[in-house]
Amino acid sequence: MATTTSRETASPEETEALGEELGRRLRIGDLVLLSGELGAGKTTFVRGVARGIGSSDSVASPTFQLVRVYRGGIQLAHVDLYRIESSVEMRDLGLDELLDQGAALVEWGERLDDVVRVARIHFDVLGDDRRRLTVVRDLVR
Ligand SMILES: Nc1ncnc2c1ncn2[C@@H]1O[C@H](COP(=O)(O)OP(=O)(O)OP(=O)(O)O)[C@@H](O)[C@H]1O
Ligand SMILES: [Mg+2]
Repeated sequence: MATTTSRETASPEETEALGEELGRRLRIGDLVLLSGELGAGKTTFVRGVARGIGSSDSVASPTFQLVRVYRGGIQLAHVDLYRIESSVEMRDLGLDELLDQGAALVEWGERLDDVVRVARIHFDVLGDDRRRLTVVRDLVR
């Protein structure tokens, strides 16, 4: 069973603002998987989330690092699985430990296996500056 909500944005700033809203509500152990094509706005959203947890760290795509950690009111792990060809397990990423210490957002999150409690946000490109963010939160699996 899951609940779905969707919001449209008309600029990167609006997408960041949605991220900031989420960032203010994140708690230790929260895991959010982000999906959507290249340039859909996942990293832009994470930039807002980092601001929402009160971090002044600069947010960049962790393409070569797999995981970056931002520090604010709570810790935020920013994971990007673009370079993972097929799928990867939470344990192999050290994600269990990161979730003991804070929240985690995962770009290309559909490549993550064996996830239990999770929220998913899918980014659709509607036009040059328009995006639709569809949030699905699993209640029971
Ligand atoms: N409404 C919008 N929301 C988010 N980004 C937007 C929007 N309109 C235009 N953009 C632009 O789209 C691009 C989104 O890039 P971003 O790096 O956030 O995408 P991404 O989903 O992380 O891509 P990748 O899969 O390559 O990591 C940026 O250049 C941003 O300025
Ligand atoms: Mg990105």
